[in-house]
Amino acid sequence: MIIHAKVGDFKTERVDAIAFGIFEGGTSLDGAPQAADAAMDGAIGELFESGDFKGELKQTSLLYTRGAIAAPRIGLVGLGKSENFNPEKARQAAAKIAQSIRDLGAKTFAIPLPPDTPEGIIQAIIEGFLLGLYQFNLHKTQDLDKIKALEAITIIVDDEDSLPAAEQAIEIGEIIAQGTILARDLSNQPANYLTPTMLADKAKTIADTTGLKCEILELAELKEKGFGALVGVAQGSQEEPRFIILEHIPDGDVQDSVVYVGKGITFDSGGLSLKPSRGMDEMKHDMSGAAAVLGAMQAIGRLRPNLHVVGLIAATENLPSGTAQKPGDVVTSYAGKTIEILNTDAEGRLVLADALGYAAKYDPKAVIDLATLTGAVVTALGHFAAGLLGTDDNLIEKIKHAADKTHERVWQLPLWEDYDEGIKSNVADVQNIGDGTAGTIAGAVFLKKFAGGYPWAHLDIAGTAWGVEGSSYIPKGASGYGARLLVQFARDWTS
Ligand code: BES
Ligand code: MN
Ligand code: ZN
Repeated sequence: MIIHAKVGDFKTERVDAIAFGIFEGGTSLDGAPQAADAAMDGAIGELFESGDFKGELKQTSLLYTRGAIAAPRIGLVGLGKSENFNPEKARQAAAKIAQSIRDLGAKTFAIPLPPDTPEGIIQAIIEGFLLGLYQFNLHKTQDLDKIKALEAITIIVDDEDSLPAAEQAIEIGEIIAQGTILARDLSNQPANYLTPTMLADKAKTIADTTGLKCEILELAELKEKGFGALVGVAQGSQEEPRFIILEHIPDGDVQDSVVYVGKGITFDSGGLSLKPSRGMDEMKHDMSGAAAVLGAMQAIGRLRPNLHVVGLIAATENLPSGTAQKPGDVVTSYAGKTIEILNTDAEGRLVLADALGYAAKYDPKAVIDLATLTGAVVTALGHFAAGLLGTDDNLIEKIKHAADKTHERVWQLPLWEDYDEGIKSNVADVQNIGDGTAGTIAGAVFLKKFAGGYPWAHLDIAGTAWGVEGSSYIPKGASGYGARLLVQFARDWTS
């Protein structure tokens, strides 16, 4: 699908539909919709007078132009009340109108932008289009001809002066949406199509196409370098683990470093502490933290912010077998701390322990890990906010700010020392589960033991990565949560 911008007049644009966004509660039409109404002999005004279309957010309506303008259809989408309008409303409305035009079977549409549309709104519209049109059809072989897809969207601006800014906002929106789409594709991919090795190969390809640096550590090297926690989780599987290192090195002088860490469990059966079969299939997305990091790194490689950004992914399967690690086993993490494994299903924090230990070598100004870590965060927050916990107030504020902008919402939970008691082990330095209360906090308290020496924050995305409902630009299955947030965080970075 191609999106391009041009200076023009919607009335002569030869596309399958013209789309207009309309605010709720306006007393009269203005701008392009008014011109369309005039050309259509008052047909749009009549829609309002009849009460059939009010401009409520995501409400849509369709008119046939019957030769009044070059395009055969006009699609209207409600933007809600103008005083409430923001980039998130733009994403929601844009997704809705693009979907409804696509579902007609149309191939192209154009949207005239009101004069002085802010770049942030243009970017959000593009994100809404691309994310709303997302479909995961890779494994369908039947009735492919019935799958509808748009071919091109034209953004119309009314003068040459506003074209460059619009083009730039479109490009940024596309790059960021493509990062999220990459994250969705990876999370939706079944575990037999996305092993740790395949994930690492994907990272290499992304690095090659975007100019990122990429290094992959394989099993022998992981053993030798002391990734005992990651290797322990991987030992139950026939598939080898991989540790993926991606780096965006900015032009010019040495810059601050930030590290993004992703949980990359390509399938989580629970290991010997086996999960129940109901819903186990969803554990193919237990690498959604890794997916968000990869999606963000792809976008960062293209946008090239003035910041050294490292992406670390600890990838393995978590399976039961004769070689699997057992409850009671003790492993030694990358940084040297020993861990008693009391539940093999608390594997995410194990692989992250090694990754967080490794992160210290960059002397980072911030480390953010993303992980589908606990079912408890779904109980606490549902699917609309990720759990946010960390050791540095300034970093937490920066993350909240990025989350506001991208509408990938976060909600902070406490990390008070009182909770530390819960993960004390009788035989090792720490144990990998708490007492069963405050499960999301217990997970973060464990990670905190390995996130020493730098400002650190953890996002528990078990609820937000999958099964989000009610948003027009987030489909069933994987949401791609976190990719946009991480890109925003890097673009806004100030030391
Ligand atoms: N991958 C799961 C968490 C999860 C649950 C992700 C639901 C997405 C949706 C994680 O590895 C896990 O199994 N966590 C356990 C921890 C427990 C054993 C302390 C959990 O939440 O039950
Ligand atoms: Mn698990
Ligand atoms: Zn898991």
